[in-house]
Amino acid sequence: MQSYKIAVLAGDGIGPEVMQEAVRVLAVVQKRFSFQLELTEARVGGAAIDHDGEALPPRTVEVCEQSEAILFGSVGGPKWEALPPNQQPERAALLPLRKHFQLFANLRPAVCFPNLTHASPVKEELIAGGFNVLCVRELTGGLYFGQPKGTHMENGEAVAVDTMIYKQSEIERIAHIAFKAAQGRSKKLTSIDKANVLENGVLWRKTVTALSSQYPDVRLNHLYVDNAAMQLIRDPRGFDVVLAENLFGDILSDEMAMITGSLGMLPSASLGTKELASGRFGLFEPSGGTAPDIAGKGIANPIAQILSAAMLLRYSLGQHAAADAIDAAVRTAIDQGFRTGDIYSEGTQRVGTRAMGDAIIAALS
Ligand code: IPM
Ligand code: MG
Repeated sequence: MQSYKIAVLAGDGIGPEVMQEAVRVLAVVQKRFSFQLELTEARVGGAAIDHDGEALPPRTVEVCEQSEAILFGSVGGPKWEALPPNQQPERAALLPLRKHFQLFANLRPAVCFPNLTHASPVKEELIAGGFNVLCVRELTGGLYFGQPKGTHMENGEAVAVDTMIYKQSEIERIAHIAFKAAQGRSKKLTSIDKANVLENGVLWRKTVTALSSQYPDVRLNHLYVDNAAMQLIRDPRGFDVVLAENLFGDILSDEMAMITGSLGMLPSASLGTKELASGRFGLFEPSGGTAPDIAGKGIANPIAQILSAAMLLRYSLGQHAAADAIDAAVRTAIDQGFRTGDIYSEGTQRVGTRAMGDAIIAALS
């Protein structure tokens, strides 16, 4: 039987409770689809700061290195907000993990289910039938990591420097991911840049355009980032795959998540340069964060974590049938009317974290 090693990093806030449901779902699909998952838990984020004195302890990195994929919960919370910014869980755990494993390709599907359009802040008539946009965000370059970076004194005042830098090869590798993703969807790719102002934008546009001849079946168009922010709200259904550099993708993916109306339902994948027999090493996490206000109450929506596990099966392990089954089970549970508080509406059944897990597991069997 095929066996895989998975690192499980639940983290802080609602991380552990939603992770529990994802792990239960994985236990069911591995039986049904005849493969074995060897899960190893490790501490990360605030939990690791409290216990090990740092957000990303060496043992955690080791566990990840020995695994084929990382199932990640979420990190951060009010308890650690007073720490210096570069020691806070988000920056001291997530960013080093991304860099260490060269997780350059961040896939963030923003799916608004047809029967959840009421939860979106966008007018229902603009999104009737729901929408499905995939944000492909470059994750290891640009302003986040460019050197020089720092704050120094100049003529008696503080000056902060961040550097936006992209090599053509970095743009090419993320663009290939986006073109391929578009080929498996509606074959429409929108590339985002700021070519009217930034040198980076000019290179971005030129590089993506040059690659498009390798993907003649994909319709490519370009938008300036400010215009894209506007068009996404005006007509989300007009988009299929959106390709953006690191900071633009950070901002636009939050916007896309918000207009789906249900942050608790959005998974994400961060794929690395390491190729595996059946896919690519990656880190898989919900888009929503730690939600400290509801942590420990058993009411958080576990769907984003469960769908992240499905992405892990798909992109790292190549277990497509099992991933499809989880996606379908989530849809079934929603169609049956099960709702956690974040997506509740009158006439549906309000359930907690565990009961939502139960409903998805029942739909799987
Ligand atoms: C995200 C987050 C991170 C980012 C933060 C927590 C460093 O906003 O994953 O989108 O900016 O990339
Ligand atoms: Mg963000």
